[in-house]
Amino acid sequence: MPARVRTAVIPAAGLGTRFLPATKAQPKEMLAVLDKPAIQYVVEEAAAAGIDDVLLVTSRGKHAIEDHFDRMPELEAVLERKGKTEALDQVVALAELVKVHSVRQAEARGLGHAVSMAADHVGDAPFAVLLPDDLMVDDSTLLRHMLAAHAEHGGSVVALAEVPRQNISAYGCPRVEEVDGSLVRITEIVEKPAPDDAPSSLAVTGRYVLTPGVFEALARVEPGQGGEIQLTDALELLSETEPVFGWVFSEGRYDVGTPLDHLRASIALALDRPDLGPELGAFLADLVRRRDLR
Ligand code: UTP
Repeated sequence: MPARVRTAVIPAAGLGTRFLPATKAQPKEMLAVLDKPAIQYVVEEAAAAGIDDVLLVTSRGKHAIEDHFDRMPELEAVLERKGKTEALDQVVALAELVKVHSVRQAEARGLGHAVSMAADHVGDAPFAVLLPDDLMVDDSTLLRHMLAAHAEHGGSVVALAEVPRQNISAYGCPRVEEVDGSLVRITEIVEKPAPDDAPSSLAVTGRYVLTPGVFEALARVEPGQGGEIQLTDALELLSETEPVFGWVFSEGRYDVGTPLDHLRASIALALDRPDLGPELGAFLADLVRRRDLR
């Protein structure tokens, strides 16, 4: 039986060019979705799936991320003095949720390169990779399903979502064979194919369960699309020697690294909140009516 997955690697060293100017001096992973930074949702998702060790891959100018998951004695003392116990409990609980480590990626040379920074920390164990700009809000069971598939079948497991074919060139794209229900086996995978060349309309999204074999594959990968070391290219190499599966899901993914999906996620989450939903819903309905957007 494969070893239990205890570590999640969260690459957060990218430049966030799709969300400028907001991300010029502020990490995109710290942009608030409603009242929490995007990366906090992802760390909470990892913890809910039984992961207790998180490795952040960061870079210059990203200290705010590490600070966010650390204790903050001055703030805690003020909250205690003012009797703000709920806020105090929240900040303490976050710092104790999982053990957080970090490693630096000196230059943004691509997602594959960012993941390779985790090799020493991860060692010879399977691990998860969670991209902090992909929020999985309705489907927090996704990672758990992927971990269960890994426990049952071994190998690596990648989250796949159906996208309109004209959008496939923004993603890694696999050719797959059916295995069982949502589980498929990846027989070939390419990064950002042209729509006419794409082997399917399934897109690789930001959740992975990987075997340590991926580090050896990453070491062999040459810079690909955009001059970056692509994780997809390493998965293609890995699939030649061990099984790489896909878990197909459909609901609840928001790419909060883009302004439109960031807004969508904030609105969807707020509408579900009893303290915000009714007023926001009425506001949106009124706005739509007045602008005649129906
Ligand atoms: P993205 O491609 O979505 O992030 O990478 P980006 O490069 O920051 O954003 P854009 O495309 O310029 O707007 C997915 C995740 O991988 C991390 C990013 O921080 C993001 O969380 N990443 C990407 C790294 O850690 N290092 C890299 O070299 C590239």
